[in-house]
Amino acid sequence: MTDVLKNDRFLRALRREATDTTPVWVMRQAGRYLPEYRATRARAGSFMALAQNPELACEVTLQPLERFELDAAILFSDILTIPDAMGLGLSFATGEGPQFAHPVRTKADIEKLGVPDMESELRYVMDAVRVIRKELRGRVPLIGFSGSPWTLACYMVEGQGSRDFARLKAMCWSEPALAHRLLDTLAQSVAAYLIAQAAAGAQALMIFDTWGGLLGPAPFREFSLRYMAQVVDALKAHPASRELPVILFSKGAGQHLSRMADTGCTALGVDWTIDLTDARQAVEGRVALQGNLDPAILLADPEVIRREVRRVLDSYGNHPGHVFNLGHGITPEVNPEHVKVLVDEVHAYGRQLRG
Ligand code: CP3
Repeated sequence: MTDVLKNDRFLRALRREATDTTPVWVMRQAGRYLPEYRATRARAGSFMALAQNPELACEVTLQPLERFELDAAILFSDILTIPDAMGLGLSFATGEGPQFAHPVRTKADIEKLGVPDMESELRYVMDAVRVIRKELRGRVPLIGFSGSPWTLACYMVEGQGSRDFARLKAMCWSEPALAHRLLDTLAQSVAAYLIAQAAAGAQALMIFDTWGGLLGPAPFREFSLRYMAQVVDALKAHPASRELPVILFSKGAGQHLSRMADTGCTALGVDWTIDLTDARQAVEGRVALQGNLDPAILLADPEVIRREVRRVLDSYGNHPGHVFNLGHGITPEVNPEHVKVLVDEVHAYGRQLRG
C-alpha cells in the first residue's frame, strides 16, 4: 500500500522527530460514548457481530475521525479475539463484561491450545484492517493492536472480568510451569496476530497490558514483561512488522518504565498515576511516551479539561516524542463535546508550546 500519509504527526512523534503540534488520539475512541456507535452496534446485533463485519468495523473506526481532528485511527476490534479463535467461546452480555464459555483451568485445557491461523480463524480482523486502510485514504495512520500475553491469560483463566484475577495469579504461584506454557503459546499467538495486522496494512502496533499492574515487581518481570519482550523480538525479526513502531502499555506500571524501554519498543503508554516529567526521566530518551490524562477529567467542565490538558502537555515539555492520550480508555458516560474540547486544546496548546 503506497498511499501517501496526509497527516504523519503521530508516526513522527513516535520516532521522536519534530512535529508542528502534539498528536492526539484517545484509547477506546470508537465506543459507547458516541451515539452513532450505539446505533451501528444495535444494527449489528451484538459486539462480536459488529467486530466480525469488516464494513461495520470500518464504519465505527471512522466515526470518531468525522467528529474530532484525531491524528490516528485504531482498528475496531477487541483484545479477546485471540482466545475466541482458540475456541474459548467469547460473548458480551449487554451491559456486562466479556464471558468465555470454556475457560482454561487445567493442564489438559492448556495443552490443547494452539496458535490460531491468522488468515482463516482471524481473517475478519485482517479484512477489517484492509477495508479501513482503503477507506482512510492516507488521512491518518492506522493502529493495529493486541492484548499482552499476561492480560489475555487473565481473562482466559478467570473466564470473565475480575478485580484481581486471582485464579491466574494462583496458577503462577502453584503451577508456574503451566502458567509459562500458557503465556508462551499466547506470546506466539500475539506475535503472529500483530505480524498479520502489519501485513494487512496496520501502520503502528500497540500491546495492551491492562492487568500487568496487578503483579508485584518480580512477578511482573517474570509473567508479563518477559512475554511482551518475546513479542517485540518476534516483531523486529519479521519483514512485515520490522519497520513499524510498537507501543507497550501496562496500566499501573510506572515503576517498570525503564525495564519496559529495554525491550526495544518504540513508545510506552503511561497512565495518570505517574507524572510525565518523571516518566521521561525514567526512560532517558530511549522511547516516546503516550498519555496520560485521567479519563475521569472528561466528566468535568470544559475549562477544567483545557487546564488539565495543558498541565499534561507542560509535564512533558517542549521535547520531541509525546503522543497525547488518556491514561486509560474513555468511559461511556463522557459527553462527546468534551472530547472535542480535549483534542482542540491539545493541538492549540501543543502548537504554542512548540512555537
Ligand atoms: O480503542 C478503540 O476504539 C478500539 C477498539 C477496542 C475495544 N476494546 C472495543 C470494545 C480496543 C483497543 C479494546 C481493547 C480492550 N478490550 C482491552 C484493553 C484496553 C483497556 O481498555 O484496558 C480490554 C481489557 C478489553 C476487554 C473488554 N472488551 C472488556 C473488559 C469489555 C467490556 C467492558 C467495556 O469496556 O465495555 C470489552 C467490550 C468492548 N470492547 C467494547 C468496545 C467498544 C464495548 C462493548 C459494547 O459495545 O457493548
